[in-house]
Amino acid sequence: MSQVETYPVPQQIADNAWVDEPKYNKMYQQSIDDPEGFWAEHGKRIHWFKPFTQVKDVHFGADDVHIRWFYDGTTNAAYNCIDQHLPHKKDDTAIIWEPDDPRENARHISFGELHEEVSRLANGLKALGVGKGDRVSIYMPMIPEAATAMLACARIGAVHSVVFGGFSPDSLASRIQDAEAKVVITADEGLRGGRKIPLKQNTDEAVANCPSVQAVVTVKRTGGGIQWHDGRDHWYHEVLEKASSDCPAEEMSAEDPLFILYTSGSTGKPKGVLHTTGGYLVHTSMTHQYVFDYHDGEVFWCTADVGWITGHSYIVYGPLANGATTVIFEGVPNYPNASRHWEVIDKHKVNIYYTAPTAIRALMREGNGPVEKTSRDSLRILGTVGEPINPEAWRWYHEVIGKGKCPIVDTWWQTETGGILITPLPGATPAKPGSATLPFFGVKPVLVDNEGNHLEGATHGNLCIADSWPGQMRTIHGDHERFVQTYFSMYPGRYFTGDGARRDEDGYFWITGRVDDVLNVSGHRMGTAEIESALVLHDKVAEAAVVGYPHDLKGQGIYAYVILNAGEEETEALRKELVDICKKEIGPIAKPDLVQFASGLPKTRSGKIMRRILRKIAEDDYSSLGDTSTLADPGVVDDLIENRQNRS
Ligand code: PRX
Repeated sequence: MSQVETYPVPQQIADNAWVDEPKYNKMYQQSIDDPEGFWAEHGKRIHWFKPFTQVKDVHFGADDVHIRWFYDGTTNAAYNCIDQHLPHKKDDTAIIWEPDDPRENARHISFGELHEEVSRLANGLKALGVGKGDRVSIYMPMIPEAATAMLACARIGAVHSVVFGGFSPDSLASRIQDAEAKVVITADEGLRGGRKIPLKQNTDEAVANCPSVQAVVTVKRTGGGIQWHDGRDHWYHEVLEKASSDCPAEEMSAEDPLFILYTSGSTGKPKGVLHTTGGYLVHTSMTHQYVFDYHDGEVFWCTADVGWITGHSYIVYGPLANGATTVIFEGVPNYPNASRHWEVIDKHKVNIYYTAPTAIRALMREGNGPVEKTSRDSLRILGTVGEPINPEAWRWYHEVIGKGKCPIVDTWWQTETGGILITPLPGATPAKPGSATLPFFGVKPVLVDNEGNHLEGATHGNLCIADSWPGQMRTIHGDHERFVQTYFSMYPGRYFTGDGARRDEDGYFWITGRVDDVLNVSGHRMGTAEIESALVLHDKVAEAAVVGYPHDLKGQGIYAYVILNAGEEETEALRKELVDICKKEIGPIAKPDLVQFASGLPKTRSGKIMRRILRKIAEDDYSSLGDTSTLADPGVVDDLIENRQNRS
């Protein structure tokens, strides 16, 4: 082991875990030496109507990529998450819902009740004209109906596209349009931290520009006033009332699409990441079991929103496929106070808690008091996801939240990967704070230099994955060429993640962050190009360039350099308008933290913006600006430095 502090696996955890260190080494080796044999065995973990005989058909070419897993088998994701558990778990709790306001009652939904509601909604969707392969957009708050809607789609073979409830009407519209969704499922209003979010109103605005939408189904959450469009609008509860609860799950091919989920890239519009059915379920259920060492009867709480991949894989599909009790929490960590998460853990006896470093950092700032008011005795395993965790936050999570007894799994993965790829296993992997540690079974991470040469040993480079895994995305909806171009053209024969990483002398991976123009703000992924496009919509703006900079709480903050049209005045009011336009066009998560009015941007003589220089200035690091003499106008750099925005 290296000099860095390591936290050994607690003996008691290792003794009772699915996998201890020798078993991890053995299983990992087997998964690499004989992937077909390994996945033939583990593919059986889910329920198949018709068992597969073919395991894998994968080609990573520079201009031709196809990925198929278990492809002659048939299955259904909703059947796996619900029906298969009915014989022995009908009355067990599938979903615990904890509302935003602790004074409102929590709900416990059994597998039997979930079966009934999902079946009714599935029939209701059919009655609205939704069939196999049709797309349904879901724009919901964190209420159980969000999961029901996803599962109802899966039951009839419709493809869901969940859009995060924090996105603006314009962002929703472009996602509905790209997916050509027939139906949108939403709620009257969302509730977060005591604040209402006008989801139905946003949907109305969005749908006005979406000719594909034939129906809007609305859950009554708050009872707040909404506009009604006769002929198009339906109440969710009325759709259920009218529908039969008898809806056998559709037999789907393993490779039929399960969902589309939009995510940001370094260029262009968000991409519709497409996941299919069989491989995704094998991967999410298997990682849920092994990475969190889930045992039957445990309560699992992933604090993500269902609008992100983490919510798809570890609130809905992974846990429910394993028959776990999954917690859906409507609120936020600091409402009504900073003890909220820990109180929820005590109230529902949560055993496994999975959250983002940004939440840990925010709660750490509140001190130990709000934590120590609670017992957290039920906790066994802790997890993090979404961004690198700084060692200080890791230690606080470990010592204060977990009282030094709960292993932490720092899980690295992406929307594209479907499920976790690099992670400790609680019973097997000694932890090092800040490292996502070692690959999951079947995953072959490699580091390459910018020319694509493989780098061996302790080193750092661009993180690629050398072979496929069952949960890998299959394509970008409607644009396979962009899929190939984005992920496979840079380093042919390998999937390029967009992340940089370091590998230490123990083979542990330390993710250093994106090497492309993608930002990670509070664990939310955003393309700089999207924010720039929003800024230049303002009629006083001539040009904009956006970069990330280190931010204590958010991980990365958004720094915008804006060049105004000639003669426009640089005012505070205008600065605010620019922040607001990002909020309106994309959503509150895209609001720049700092806006600097600039007279020019550092460009090469061929007109390319030197983002590296902009990043350095935003980072307040002028020592390594590199050679600026090749710039078309080297003088702009001094001007940018002089007018850099102060940061707290
Ligand atoms: O940069 C990595 C970071 O989040 C990116 C993926 O974002 P998204 O598709 O939104 O999915 C987030 C949740 C799976 C990655 O390219 N990231 C994710 N997990 C970690 C991480 N960075 C460091 N450590 C992690 N554990």
